[in-house]
Amino acid sequence: MCGIIGYIGKQNAPNILLKGLSKLEYRGYDSSGIAIISKNDINIIKSKGKLINLKEKLKNNKINSKLGIGHTRWATHGVPSDINAHPHLSQNKQIAIVHNGIIENYLSLKEELELKGYHFISDTDSEIIANMLEYYKEENFLNTINKTISRLEGSYALLIINKDDPNKLFAIRNESPLIIGINNEEYFIASDIPAILEWTKNIYYLNNKEVAILKVNSINFFNNKKEAVIKKISKITWDYEVAKKNGYEHFMLKEIFEQPNAVKDTIKLRIKNGLPNLDIKLTEKYLNVIDKIYIVACGTAYHAGLNAKNLIENLIGINAEADIASEFRYRNPLINKKTLVIILSQSGETADTLAALRLAKEKGAKVISIVNVVGSSIARESDEVIYTWAGPEIAVASTKAFTTQLSVIYLLVIQLALLTKKIAEKEAKSLIKEVKSIPKKIESILKEKSKIKEIAKFFYHDKDAYYIGRGRDYYIAMEGSLKLKEISYIHAEAYAAGELKHGTIALIEDNTLVVAVCSIEKLLPKMISNIKEIEARGAKTLVITNSKEKIGTYNFIIPEINNYFTSILTVIPLQLLAYYIANYKKIDLDKPKNLAKSVTVE
Ligand code: F6R
Repeated sequence: MCGIIGYIGKQNAPNILLKGLSKLEYRGYDSSGIAIISKNDINIIKSKGKLINLKEKLKNNKINSKLGIGHTRWATHGVPSDINAHPHLSQNKQIAIVHNGIIENYLSLKEELELKGYHFISDTDSEIIANMLEYYKEENFLNTINKTISRLEGSYALLIINKDDPNKLFAIRNESPLIIGINNEEYFIASDIPAILEWTKNIYYLNNKEVAILKVNSINFFNNKKEAVIKKISKITWDYEVAKKNGYEHFMLKEIFEQPNAVKDTIKLRIKNGLPNLDIKLTEKYLNVIDKIYIVACGTAYHAGLNAKNLIENLIGINAEADIASEFRYRNPLINKKTLVIILSQSGETADTLAALRLAKEKGAKVISIVNVVGSSIARESDEVIYTWAGPEIAVASTKAFTTQLSVIYLLVIQLALLTKKIAEKEAKSLIKEVKSIPKKIESILKEKSKIKEIAKFFYHDKDAYYIGRGRDYYIAMEGSLKLKEISYIHAEAYAAGELKHGTIALIEDNTLVVAVCSIEKLLPKMISNIKEIEARGAKTLVITNSKEKIGTYNFIIPEINNYFTSILTVIPLQLLAYYIANYKKIDLDKPKNLAKSVTVE
């Protein structure tokens, strides 16, 4: 998704903006640009393609400026091109903006402005904002901004510079993230924390429709009634080091290898006397009233949600449903005060997940979220939040966010099962002992990375792959197939193993790759039959299992663990498999094509 960076201070703005933009590359983009104010003039430099193209254009540009805005664009309205890249200028070239989000009523606003004599040069929705600002321009620029945003429908994070106010930078957001970092006498504004971590960990969060006016040495906030707002500085706990590759070839591999520590960090302070000790305010009385739990998320987080559903039903005995946020929000789910909604999100900014959260609250449900980014919109709007302490996840393909989400789910389910007396303390303690063993077991799987690397060599020319499993293993098959398709571009599909016979088995032929996850003891005989059926039709199989039997053509054995928790182990070889296959194919796998790290538009 698009990324925003802004700077005002004593250093040379273009250098800071370029550095910031390079930290935003991981979000996915197809063009980039900057605008700076120098000698009372706005200079815009932008370029289609990778950041290197922009750097090339800036190489001989010696403009010195202490104030500027920058953007990485992920095309929505109009193809990737120099013209559609941000920043966009108003028609009279007085105002420049960068915009994240989507202006939903841009077509009618564009027609309105065209009737007033405005001409548009790009295909973007964003250009109308620059011209709208010009149209409503008055001496007090705060009035101009408020009049403009009162006309906008949709989501936006906006940075604005204005030639008539050459020492100020204006920032505003609505439903799209924007943070302001402060370091002595300079300010760094960004859509995402890693972009500014190098310079500061002290940040302000902007609320919807709040405007920040920044000058060197001063910052003022206003609400949409133009009243001054006092804000507190929040401290980011992430380390800048964590946002670097530290010798790994890719962020994805680094993050796969960070999982033992990420899981350890997520669970260690939440276990007391051998029992889960999550800081949440759910009482036994409240839980006895609850008759339905929805777990809502997108993509990889949804796969963690499916695990939560399964464990809640098995260990707590409450009816639970996992739902894809973009479906949930439009299908009129039956929610009332007796519904608990659990939201899962790494970024805490996914547009559909945020909308699902709001819907749930509107209908009277209590919302607990499991989020990685502290202070994100989902975290702030939930009744309760449990953070996954995974640190920044930079690679587009989610790995450590998933395993830390599972870790929190394990603790949460055990805590709630104990609270509702569905399990005794002794059982809870023995389950927690198993959870505590996870980091070491992940470590031992990672030590066998070369086995998976070898196996990946046989598969990277394949065009299709099928992933199968039953119960919780099916959810990991879904996650494994998502990992493979998103970074290797190989067509991959996941099936509940018992469903194959109902149609899909027709696609199995000589040498078709089938990855089977079988870690649930009672389902093992059923899985073996499914594997034999497909092998009989020529498939080559890779089996991820805890069984010592040689079940498939290739086998990878995970360490023993209580069956409730095998998912957090079976997923690791599948992450590695996707990684090595994509790497053999020489794909830029930290930034796969068409994908964005944080999906802040619908
Ligand atoms: C896949 C992936 C996505 C995200 C999804 C939700 O590797 O990263 O499927 O899991 O976009 O994102 P968050 O968790 O930020 O809400």
